[in-house]
Parts: sequence; C-alpha cells; structure tokens
Amino acid sequence: MRTAFTRKLLAWWARAARDLPWRKTRDPYRVLVSEFMLQQTQVSRVAEYYPRFLERFPDLETLARARPRAVREAWDGLGYYARASNLHALARVVSRDHDGTLPDEPEELIKLPGVGRYTAGAVATFAYEKPVPAVDTNVSRVLRRVFWRSNHAPRTTHRVLWNLAAALVPKSGKSAWKFNQAVMELGALICVARKPRCPECPVRPVCRTGKSRRTDAAGENRSSKNR
Ligand code: ADE
Repeated sequence: MRTAFTRKLLAWWARAARDLPWRKTRDPYRVLVSEFMLQQTQVSRVAEYYPRFLERFPDLETLARARPRAVREAWDGLGYYARASNLHALARVVSRDHDGTLPDEPEELIKLPGVGRYTAGAVATFAYEKPVPAVDTNVSRVLRRVFWRSNHAPRTTHRVLWNLAAALVPKSGKSAWKFNQAVMELGALICVARKPRCPECPVRPVCRTGKSRRTDAAGENRSSKNR
C-alpha cells in the first residue's frame, strides 16, 4: 500500500503540480525565505511578495547586513512580523557562524531562529534534496486520512506521523524532493480540510478514508458531520 501510494502520488504530481517560484530553485536561501513566508500565509499571497523580497535581499549576506526597518518594510503585507525578525536573526547567525552557508541537516537547521521541525525538514529536502520528511498541517492531514480511517485520526500522534513520513520518503534525493512537494500539493489541492475532492484524488484506491467515503450530495453532508 505504501509503494502504491507513492507511485500514484508521483504520477499525479508530474501532471498536476502548480508552477510556483520556489519550486524552480534549490538555492537554500531562496527555499528558506519561501518556507518562512509560507508558514502562516497563503500561497497566492506569498507568490506576490516573494519575488519582491528577493529583489531587495537577493542573498543571505545582503539580508544579514540589512537594517531591521528595511526587512520589516519588505515584509509589510505578509503580517506576523516575528517571522521577519527571526529570518533576519537567522541570516546574521548563519553569516557569522556558518560562513554564510545554511546547514543541510535538519538537526543543525532546527537550532536556528524561527526554524521548527517542519521548516528544518523542508529546507533539507527542498534545497539539499535530502531524503527526510517535512510534515506540516497539510501533510499530516493527508497521511492521517490515507493510512488511518479519518474517525481514528485524533489518536494519531505527531511522532507516529513523522515516523510514517520518514518511512515513506523515497531514499534518493530527487524523488524525495518530489515526494515531499507532492504530498503537500495533494493536501493543498485535493485532500483539503473541509471538503476533500475524493472523486478527483489520485490516491483514492489506496486511501482508507477516501475509499469508503460516499461522494453523492447526501454522503458529503453526512461525512462532514461525522468528522
Ligand atoms: N507550503 C509550505 N511549503 C510549500 C511548498 N514548497 N509548496 C507549496 N506550499 C507550501
């Protein structure tokens, strides 16, 4: 079931993935900026602000040297400014302690300001193509639904989900990158929180929740009440 899930997911990714600016780069700084922005902001808004921010601060050293006010201005409109000041602090630490190069291991990344377990995994896999998991809200929802029936989901702990994600990630770099992007994309486009689009879902045949889910109008209502 696990390999079928991955196979179907990657085939879907190849035809359905959105063309987003941070998916065209492996530059660790650019990946990092996108992940900080995406932490609490919608993709469409990030897509608007991301190129502007990078125009103003094209690399980590430029950001490290910037004035707090300039960083704040460039972040204006994205909100949650703590992210901007953490990103700025991070750039300074990396410039001072790591010769300006972001670490490639989640265990090192997580020590940096504003970097939690998800962001550490995301930078390691999206910038360095490491075969490590990155479990955010979308990913955990997808995994819970696919591998457990949704009514059992609340008992699924973080640790169990991270272990499952670690076991699922393909062990070669490019596929790991794709896999992690693809689970996130499935959560964003198909396996959405409120009304999952099961009839369109590429992994429905192997999904514990989706397989048995009724998708006629009455079924939709009933299953969302049960959730
Ligand atoms: N949210 C966090 N990281 C993302 C990514 N790489 N693509 C789309 N949404 C995301």
